[in-house]
Parts: sequence; structure tokens; C-alpha cells
Amino acid sequence: MFSLFKKKAPLSIRLDAEGGEFTAAGGQSLLDAALAAGIPWPHRCKVGSCGVCRCKVVEGSVKPLTDFGYVLSPREIAEGTVLACQSRARTDVVVRLPGK
Ligand code: FES
Repeated sequence: MFSLFKKKAPLSIRLDAEGGEFTAAGGQSLLDAALAAGIPWPHRCKVGSCGVCRCKVVEGSVKPLTDFGYVLSPREIAEGTVLACQSRARTDVVVRLPGK
């Protein structure tokens, strides 16, 4: 069987300070996966324009779906801050919500 047709295992998303954990399937954004798991992740627009869903990636890697530069400062981006509604996990990740 070609690996092209293999289904990828869900990736683990762990909340650093809060201690919660959930999984993200294939095309789910971090935000969609968190909300599906019942985690009250702060959000508003879900399209990458308000910045409310921001979090810091402490470990692992995410794939940005849009350019965060319209909402986040260069410093935030350099420090690993991403928009959860516009990010998909590439690996298992550990994230931290603002103020934690
Ligand atoms: S919910 Fe608005 S930028 Fe993600």
C-alpha cells in the first residue's frame, strides 16, 4: 500500500500551563481541535483577523495557514506566537495561552 493513502495518526496538543491535552486530526486547526475537545479556547473571528486565539508554541511545530504578520507583531512571531485558528500541528505540540 502506498504511504500516500495512509491515514495520519492524530497529533497531541498539550496546554503547557493549564495541563490539558487534546488531539488534532488531519486538517483541523489548533482552535477547531480544542473546541471539539470542549476546551474553552479564547476566540472570536476564526478567520485570522482578531488575534484573540493567539498562543505560544513552546514545543513542536505548526503549519501556518495564513500570514500572521497582519495581526501579530514581528516580535510575537519571533517568540513563537501563532494564531490557533490559522495553524495546523505538524508534530505533537505544547502550547501556552497568553497570561499563563
Ligand atoms: S479567532 Fe480571530 S484570529 Fe483566530
